[in-house]
Amino acid sequence: MKMRRSLAVLCVLMLIAGVFAGCGGAGSSKRIVRIGHNQSTAHPSHIALEAFADYINNSELGEKYEVQVYPSELLGSQNEMVQLTQTGAIDFVIASNAIMETFSKNYSIFNLPFLFSSAEAYHAAMDDPSLTDPIFLATEDAGFRTVTWLDAGTRNFYTVDKPIEKPEDLKGLKIRVQQSPTNIAMMNAFGGSATPMGFGEVYTALQSNIIDGAENNEMALTDNGHGDVCKHYSYDMHQMVPDLLLGNVAFLNGLPEEEYAVFEEGFKLINKVQREEWTKAVENAKNKAQNEMGVNFYYPDTAPFQEACMPIHDSVVKGNAILEDIYAKITAYNEQYRAVAE
Ligand code: GCU
Repeated sequence: MKMRRSLAVLCVLMLIAGVFAGCGGAGSSKRIVRIGHNQSTAHPSHIALEAFADYINNSELGEKYEVQVYPSELLGSQNEMVQLTQTGAIDFVIASNAIMETFSKNYSIFNLPFLFSSAEAYHAAMDDPSLTDPIFLATEDAGFRTVTWLDAGTRNFYTVDKPIEKPEDLKGLKIRVQQSPTNIAMMNAFGGSATPMGFGEVYTALQSNIIDGAENNEMALTDNGHGDVCKHYSYDMHQMVPDLLLGNVAFLNGLPEEEYAVFEEGFKLINKVQREEWTKAVENAKNKAQNEMGVNFYYPDTAPFQEACMPIHDSVVKGNAILEDIYAKITAYNEQYRAVAE
């Protein structure tokens, strides 16, 4: 852990030196475009960013730019990397929507538990710029904006000692949540004890009994090894929280129009590749967790979980005209896709 931290600090120092030198290193006149994220190199988001790097580096812009991808919290935690993107020390970061509500309240809507009634409704809403623009562009003044979204599946509870089959099972348990007021409100509504921390700290916290469990998609069990410690994974389906690709505004706005158009094609490619890879990755993760790691999967009745946290919707949305409008659009997608399923 300590070594990774020092490595991260060293990388950041080297990056900042590179930025001030305005290039990628000795002899190179290319503008290095740096993207940081917190997943492994096997993760769909990394695969998608590598496709983006290949696309830009091999395009007509390849003479001028070189995209480099830094995985595995090499440049720091997600929170730290968002700050680096804000200041322009790096150009892009993948951040969970969860940690964005401290920058703009507009992002809190996508952190609401049971916001979407199906994956289809979720995808349709995320693909609708009339719905996402007021959120994605809300942080321009803070120095960054969202240029595309990435699927991060459905978040469910997983625990060390006993399965979660109803909200009462969470009573007295310390559960890691992402660092967001909405997530803390959600855990309180379920009756558990919310323990906010960065993603990179969760494995050690589980192993050393600092927490009793966490909540995430299936990839956390395998790709992050949480299934080594947690053998109970319960599909209560409480959230679909997207990941976001954030870009530094000065960099984006400084691109000539025709170059921006190429980057924009690249952002679409990231979204496409990541979503294709995501479906396969979740299926593989579930198989591996079940068959090789001995994780048990449970399918509780989701209604009591849903009832427990519905009041949070009003507390986030009511009285905020922008969010009320977005919420109405999401409700329409929920109805449209419910009708398709019936
Ligand atoms: C998912 C998500 C990450 C996030 C993590 C977390 O893995 O893709 O962006 O950091 O959950 O729980 O913190």
